Amino acid sequence: MLLHVDGEFASVTDLVKGTCTGRNFGWLPSEQAQAMAHIAHIIRDDDGSGELAQQHGGPYPVVLKGTDPSIPPEALAQGKIGNCIACHAPPNFTDFQSHNTGAAQEECDAIHGTGALAALVIPDLRPRRDNHDAYLPPTPQHPEVQGPFRDIPSPDQPGRTDLGLWNVYANPDFPKPQAPIQQLLCAGGKPCLPQALLPKAIALFKTPGLRDLGHSAPYLHTGRKGTLEDVLGFSNLARAGQLRNGVPALHGMALTKEDIAPLSAFLRAWNEDYG
Ligand code: HEC
Repeated sequence: MLLHVDGEFASVTDLVKGTCTGRNFGWLPSEQAQAMAHIAHIIRDDDGSGELAQQHGGPYPVVLKGTDPSIPPEALAQGKIGNCIACHAPPNFTDFQSHNTGAAQEECDAIHGTGALAALVIPDLRPRRDNHDAYLPPTPQHPEVQGPFRDIPSPDQPGRTDLGLWNVYANPDFPKPQAPIQQLLCAGGKPCLPQALLPKAIALFKTPGLRDLGHSAPYLHTGRKGTLEDVLGFSNLARAGQLRNGVPALHGMALTKEDIAPLSAFLRAWNEDYG
């Protein structure tokens, strides 16, 4: 199993620990132990009296047990027009794989101009290994490094972007996900040597599940899409075959403008009712 946008975690436990003690919650790589203690306190000692608990069904120990009756696969639209099921297969609405749908390229090009990600100089395995600190992201083992390829592009810092799985694959700071990532990248065909597979990891991101999207905007790992309609309207680069290391399955998508409203409404039907 491979979890998180860039495949950093190989189990649900590591995902929960890593996410809750990571930068999304404001913790630095060097603060992992402190973060763990804090999160454990918040969850274990929740008595249900806080505002969020009142709104969303009670204290953590109750909510975390789950309230979501499973959705029968027959309820899903089948068909080739969206090709959605190729990647968002029921019952989890994810294939647990990672693909490059163009989200990173769209973000990078929007800031630095069309063609910016295609032209970006990305090191091969050997130069990356020889210069770990210059290229790879901060971790508890390397807390002070910059991680230019796991960053948010900004106009004043060209060359910085987020290449997803590329940061984790063959990175010795993440030993556990290496076997599943290797398997995933190898499925694309031989040769399966790390130096050949590293370019195939460029801008791959985990396929998210599609339940309860009403609570998880903004969308895509970039957070650049505010509504489901925006997400579904985005795939032009992929359709035009202009993605660096893009996923071929997106060529099968033939959504028209008229499909977007009903498909968005269909996805909203999977919103969770926490009542
Ligand atoms: C080739 C595989 C693939 C296909 C086909 C595909 N998706 Fe996705 N989808 C992904 C991946 C990977 C992401 C995450 C991309 C990212 O964040 O970089 C994603 C993201 C999304 C998101 C955003 C979810 C979130 O939490 O941010 C939605 C909604 C979505 N897809 C719906 C669909 C629908 C509806 C279809 C069919 C019209 C479809 N996808 C077709 C792989 C696919």
